[in-house]
Amino acid sequence: MCGIVGYTGLGQGAAGGVATPSRTPLDVALEGLRRLEYRGYDSAGVALVAPGFERVATAKKAGKLANLIEEVDLHPLPDATAAIGHTRWATHGGPTDTNAHPHLADGDRLAVIHNGIVENFALLKQELLADGVTFHSETDTEVAAQLIAKAYRETGNLTAAMGVAARRLHGTFTLLAVHADVPDTVVGARHDSPLVVGLGEGENFLGSDVAAFIAHTHEALELGQDQIVTITPTSVAVTDFDGNPAEAKRFTVDWDAEAAEKGGFDSFMDKEIHDQPHAVGDTLLGRTDASGNLVLDDLRIDESLLRAVNKIIVVACGTAAYSGHVAKYAIEHWCRIPVEVELAHEFRYRDPIVDEKTLVVAVTQSGETMDTLMAVRHAREQGAKVISIVNTHGSTIPRESDAVLYTHAGPEIAVASTKAFLAQITAAYLLGLYLAQLRGNKFPDEISAILDELRDMPRKIQTVIERGEYVRATARSMRDASSVLFLGRHVGFPVALEGALKLKELAYIHAEGFAAGELKHGPIALIDEGQPVFVVVPSPRGRDSLHSKVVSNIQEIRARGARTLVIAEDGDDEVRKYADEIFWIPQAPTLLQPLLAVVPLQIFAMALATAKGLDVDQPRNLAKSVTVE
Ligand code: M6R
Repeated sequence: MCGIVGYTGLGQGAAGGVATPSRTPLDVALEGLRRLEYRGYDSAGVALVAPGFERVATAKKAGKLANLIEEVDLHPLPDATAAIGHTRWATHGGPTDTNAHPHLADGDRLAVIHNGIVENFALLKQELLADGVTFHSETDTEVAAQLIAKAYRETGNLTAAMGVAARRLHGTFTLLAVHADVPDTVVGARHDSPLVVGLGEGENFLGSDVAAFIAHTHEALELGQDQIVTITPTSVAVTDFDGNPAEAKRFTVDWDAEAAEKGGFDSFMDKEIHDQPHAVGDTLLGRTDASGNLVLDDLRIDESLLRAVNKIIVVACGTAAYSGHVAKYAIEHWCRIPVEVELAHEFRYRDPIVDEKTLVVAVTQSGETMDTLMAVRHAREQGAKVISIVNTHGSTIPRESDAVLYTHAGPEIAVASTKAFLAQITAAYLLGLYLAQLRGNKFPDEISAILDELRDMPRKIQTVIERGEYVRATARSMRDASSVLFLGRHVGFPVALEGALKLKELAYIHAEGFAAGELKHGPIALIDEGQPVFVVVPSPRGRDSLHSKVVSNIQEIRARGARTLVIAEDGDDEVRKYADEIFWIPQAPTLLQPLLAVVPLQIFAMALATAKGLDVDQPRNLAKSVTVE
């Protein structure tokens, strides 16, 4: 949640023979915030320092980044040498100008921004109040700022002061600070919250993720847990909270700034839906050796341990958890290993039965979801091995996992997940097939045949996208709907859940997904004249009972007045008779069908929200990465 950017540069001209950047710290901060706004958009702010400043120059505004940009256009800020910027997802204190970051301390000479939650802030605040400190906001961040200020007065060193304060804070935090005394320096600290360093020539960057500086550099450092980083234009120093030198891992970002632009589409979500054939294709690339065997290079887990696994638990949240539900059907079928799927926050706070023979699979686009991170830690403490399926390099969860399988969806900016979902399902299929290969559950030619089908999926996904206009027209005609239900069986069930989630988060209307078989056990009471119900119909070429059961379910709801919106395979003549609207998808093996069936539901939710005039990239109350529990 909250996006954080920091920058320091030598400024225009040449210094000491170094070709120096011509951009201003304010421009870098605002550009970084534009790219990070998907992390939170309750307010935005910047703080600038330069030699000779008596105090830090700041601007901050409630609402989206556009409000801050308008503010700095109306009231220009002075030129600077370093800047920090923040886009907020509110936790402590409402989304007001006063609660917006940065927060100032030390006679307005120190500015601090923060992502996370300081859990002991009330206690610390009392202590600081007793010292005579005056607070201006309701935020926990201002407490951290005052704590850093106090330590700075004692140590006279911003890095040391950050360490002193960090050791006293409980909870989760990334903190960035600038001080007018050291106008070429930005200091950052992280504990259970993300922070990466961008490495430049005559300039350096900090960001919640690489999007903050991708327009300027691809070279980055991944900070470890409980580390402090101090950047100047020509140096990067990493220590632990006690000031001891520490190591950070260098990496190169493998996508370009253009990948995080709308590329001519009206919204990031629309663009990301269109990216899906590539997201799936790229996730499949380079996974086999010359003999066609699956090789998952990133899996560092001993093969004998993987052979001994007797239970798999998928932990994830939201859309990522629904990809886990799809994985369950595939992995159990291919590998004959029991698979449980758990919401990460539920897994963490009960007493799960986990041991060395349990394989935990953590699925996450951001690699930062706090609930999933806590589940990973808990699983490893119990002796389980953890494989994470992650889209974002440099994030925390892969670093804390035993092995990682990266999805190659590219940056996902829209808050509602689309291409990451398809890439997660694809990666989970690869994991299932790899385990089946390793454990001898399937013959090599069977695995090759499934891989061939998988490699054909990007083409089929493209076909579904090209048929999108009919879905959009239907959505526009339903802009006044107040409730939509979604039904599916088998792998169609998680697709129904995902379709409902997309509609809830984008169009703010009541939407529920059900297992079609559950209908008669209660939900059918919701069916009334005209109630729209999406039904995901399994392939008629798959298990015959599955198809006919869903067709019966459609008849049951239609008989009670439902308006049926059916997703069915090309050539499924049987179901046509019972559909008020039908969205055709290409034929595919039953287990792979979710990669196709979910696409019309994504397009439907996006189009209906757009018809209602809503912002599909930044739905209300949400943030892209949920980095607090
Ligand atoms: O980054 P993660 O994949 O761990 O995020 C998990 C969920 O927060 C995320 O999928 C969320 O449900 C999306 N808003 C769904 O569109």
